[in-house]
Amino acid sequence: MDLEHLLNQRVKNIEISGIRKFFNMVSDMDNLISFTIGQPDFPTPLHIKDAGIKAIQSDFTSYTHNAGTAELRQAASNFVARKYNLHYQPESEVIVTTGASEAIDIAFRTILSEDCEVILPGPIYPGYEPIITMMGAVPIHVDTRQNHFRLTLELIKPFITDKTRCIVLPYPSNPTGVSLSKEELKEIAAYLQGRNIFLLADEIYSELTFDRPHHSIGSFLKEQTIVINGLSKSHSMTGWRIGFLFAPENVAKHILKVHQYNVSCANSIAQKAAYEALTTGFSDAESMRNEYAARREYVYNRLQSMKLETVKPDGAFYFFVKIPNEIPLNSFDFALDLVKQTKVAVVPGSAFSPYGEGYFRLSFACSRETLTEGLDRIEQYLQNKN
Ligand SMILES: Cc1ncc(COP(=O)(O)O)c(C=O)c1O
Repeated sequence: MDLEHLLNQRVKNIEISGIRKFFNMVSDMDNLISFTIGQPDFPTPLHIKDAGIKAIQSDFTSYTHNAGTAELRQAASNFVARKYNLHYQPESEVIVTTGASEAIDIAFRTILSEDCEVILPGPIYPGYEPIITMMGAVPIHVDTRQNHFRLTLELIKPFITDKTRCIVLPYPSNPTGVSLSKEELKEIAAYLQGRNIFLLADEIYSELTFDRPHHSIGSFLKEQTIVINGLSKSHSMTGWRIGFLFAPENVAKHILKVHQYNVSCANSIAQKAAYEALTTGFSDAESMRNEYAARREYVYNRLQSMKLETVKPDGAFYFFVKIPNEIPLNSFDFALDLVKQTKVAVVPGSAFSPYGEGYFRLSFACSRETLTEGLDRIEQYLQNKN
């Protein structure tokens, strides 16, 4: 008997992420060069792996405190205080989560209700919208394309209504690499201060910023901000599934209940490894960041010489590139044509909200040899189109 008709309609309405959809279509191809990767191409640093092994060997394999071990919450609190001037009490304002993904989920499930609105700068990472719609809330996308993908207070203002419950600030951005400056964040914070609106600051790429230090809006407007971070990108630990959520106590205590009924606690072994990452590995991101920065220069120069329009990313490891006007294809068909002709896979911009249409995302989380070969193929493809 088929019971599909009984399933929750909101769940039936959501779709698999466009990134995955495209990757699943092409991943079996021989000789494929994939620029679709959204994770670091470095191994987790050895001392962190060793801490994980030691945790197993010493039987650190039971449930921990729901919010995470005390030592890890303290380490996370110290880390963001020293790096980003964020001040959260480890006992009551820090939650260790199963990746940033769980932090996003439990934050939205705590703050959203039916019909309230969430403002999202588009193009945007596809991990927010399905949770918003599952809550019966309404995603409101702001088109940042006309402003080099920078969300400004002026762009946000027309979308603020009585129903606005939350504004998502995902900087540095996946897919554009754009980050906001201290002044830009301060301006947004000053305007929102005292309004009944939350800010969800997803700062998972904060350690991978290139030209200037990362700033968090949480340092200007703590009472209204939920800060999300994690170790997936900074310490190349995507599979360990460790994220962090920082929120004022009166909000965090409610989010913690959702987290508790969701996962009880984050993985205990990974928590030991995470403690090592945030203490001994305080500066582990540096060498990876330097390598990403060098690749960024290389890719930027190649894209420029191909006359492809893009914004040089401030952080993360992506370029968001405009599909040339001479190629009359939408982003999905473009990516499909490119992979068929050249065996180079990129992510269609439409995977990142309607405001990603007309672009593709190129990840430089791969070796320089791979970048060279893939960019050579793209160059050849464009020449053949002319
Ligand atoms: C902007 C953004 N937020 C959150 C995540 C999810 O991170 P995690 O792997 O820690 O769940 C990603 C992963 O690609 C991301 O790009």
